[in-house]
Amino acid sequence: MDLRTKYLGLDLPHPLMPGASPLSHDVDSIRRLEDAGAAAIVMYSLFEEQIIGEQLASHHGTELHAHSFPEATTFFTEPPEFALGPHEYLEHLARVKTLVSIPVIGSLNGTTPGGWTEHAKLIEQAGADALELNLYSVAADHAETSQQVEDRTIELCRAVKSAVKIPVAAKLSPFYTSMPHLTHRLESVGVDGVVIFNRFYQPDIDVEELEVRHTLHLSDSGELLMRLRWLAILSGRLNLSLGATGGVHTGLDAVKAIMCGAHGVQMVSALLLGGPHALTEARDTMSKWLEEHEYHSLAQMQGSMSLARCPDPSAYERAQYLRVLRTGW
Ligand SMILES: Cc1cc2nc3c(=O)[nH]c(=O)nc-3n(C[C@H](O)[C@H](O)[C@H](O)COP(=O)(O)O)c2cc1C
Repeated sequence: MDLRTKYLGLDLPHPLMPGASPLSHDVDSIRRLEDAGAAAIVMYSLFEEQIIGEQLASHHGTELHAHSFPEATTFFTEPPEFALGPHEYLEHLARVKTLVSIPVIGSLNGTTPGGWTEHAKLIEQAGADALELNLYSVAADHAETSQQVEDRTIELCRAVKSAVKIPVAAKLSPFYTSMPHLTHRLESVGVDGVVIFNRFYQPDIDVEELEVRHTLHLSDSGELLMRLRWLAILSGRLNLSLGATGGVHTGLDAVKAIMCGAHGVQMVSALLLGGPHALTEARDTMSKWLEEHEYHSLAQMQGSMSLARCPDPSAYERAQYLRVLRTGW
């Protein structure tokens, strides 16, 4: 089956790749993902605020290890890499580039232009084939308007785009008021792709200790639904790549994301839980499914359930809301 896709200007044999996570912390893990057939790899982020890395690292090894596959302790390395400074990150990336033949997508967590353009350039110089901008930030400033939040995002992307030649993707959270407008603005400053959606790490509260507990839950396929809607709404309306991240656990999940318009499909939780084999299995299931349904290629299926082409477009919009509430359960 012809599963080829073009994502961020990269010609890939199929759309499945590990998303940004500790899966890329060490070269052995990356090699195993390549052996399992990953089409590319997205590196974990170089963080603007080390504190985010520290928060993630402090949960590492607790909930994750409790639920992961048996080899997790070797595959899923311990946290210090999250604290890697730019220098070590770039060295690691450059080394990975010499050891694998799949495209390597760097990742940068920045919310303000400033020095981030510098780091984007350094990631490019280290050999990254593309750069994903992880725009993870919580808009908690009461004085900042939604327009200002969006303007900041656009300016950051504009600055990075003008600093590097490699393709740049913006990894977005779902918490923007008008996703279509924002993505059109991203397109207008030259961004090559959007990846939807990052997951937020939700703090819980310990009511006995009166403490905030940082938790990190892995996803399940249910999280894909929100992504499907927005992929479908954006697909065919933007001249940039669409990446899906969040809730892709099986080949059928990937089929859905592609039908809604995804060009690249990232997996993280599924690989942390099931190991690299989960990617092989998803790719094989997807290929078999296409064959059984008499598709000639993945391209033939891409975007077939987008808002523009779906037989029931109102399903993605408000019109379906009342009907589902009345009859849908
Ligand atoms: C332990 C862990 C670490 C992560 N680190 C990063 C990161 O460094 N940069 C980033 O953009 N996303 C990061 N993510 C988010 C994932 O790339 C992905 O978007 C998210 O987990 C949703 O995909 P999934 O449902 O396949 O897990 C991380 C996720 C997990 C679980």
